[in-house]
Amino acid sequence: MSSIVLFGPPGAGKGTQAERIMVATGLPQVSTGDMLRAAVKAGTETGMVAKGFMESGQLVPDAVIIDLIKDRILEPDAANGVMFDGFPRTIPQAEALAGITSVTHVIAIEVPDERIVERICGRYSCAGCGSVYHDTFNPVASGGCNCGQWQEKRRADDNETTVNSRLGAYHEQTSPLADWYRSKGIFHAVNGDRAIDEITGDILVALNQ
Ligand code: AP5
Repeated sequence: MSSIVLFGPPGAGKGTQAERIMVATGLPQVSTGDMLRAAVKAGTETGMVAKGFMESGQLVPDAVIIDLIKDRILEPDAANGVMFDGFPRTIPQAEALAGITSVTHVIAIEVPDERIVERICGRYSCAGCGSVYHDTFNPVASGGCNCGQWQEKRRADDNETTVNSRLGAYHEQTSPLADWYRSKGIFHAVNGDRAIDEITGDILVALNQ
């Protein structure tokens, strides 16, 4: 089993690219953010622990995240590897991951901080299928999402105050992972400040290296 990691700041486009890379590679997307939001909605113990951290833009404790991943990786669709989106986010998470599955590529989507707030504050998604859109950069078609179950959804943590905390957490706790993975020779950076299709093309090239 071998897996890939989509890495980058909040709003870099990890979820947007994951939808496309999933189609191209057949690897299922494993988004810790989506898993935590589902846990909060379901009112599970994990969700109750995670809620306050997420609302304030802080990282959820490593032990909670690592337990989630250990369980997820045992599911049948993960047998041939997965595409992690938003995990790992700390060196202890990356060390735990190394003991769970082998990672062949870490794709870092690089976007300057000044672009992040406008991307996140304009984001919405389809509650039916999870597809991600943007008020200006990637609006949904006039009849709604083509999944047929269109319902607009916005995230509680997509506001300017929380985005700044999330960016702070990224720079302090997550960005050191770039050097950690660079030293392992599996790190590939792509310029994420371009059209969505161009970025997808670069990611697919990087995955063949
Ligand atoms: P999570 O859900 O993972 O959020 P995030 O990392 O902050 O990333 P986002 O989902 O906000 O952004 P994205 O990179 O997927 O961008 P998107 O494609 O949507 O985590 C949420 C919280 O959960 C964390 O704050 C933390 O509390 C907790 N958490 C999760 N994982 C954790 C972990 N491992 N450890 C600890 N805590 C954890 O794009 C954004 C917008 O931009 C969209 O509107 C999109 O349409 C638009 N867009 C995308 N690409 C482009 C482009 N090229 N040009 C213009 N617009 C674009």
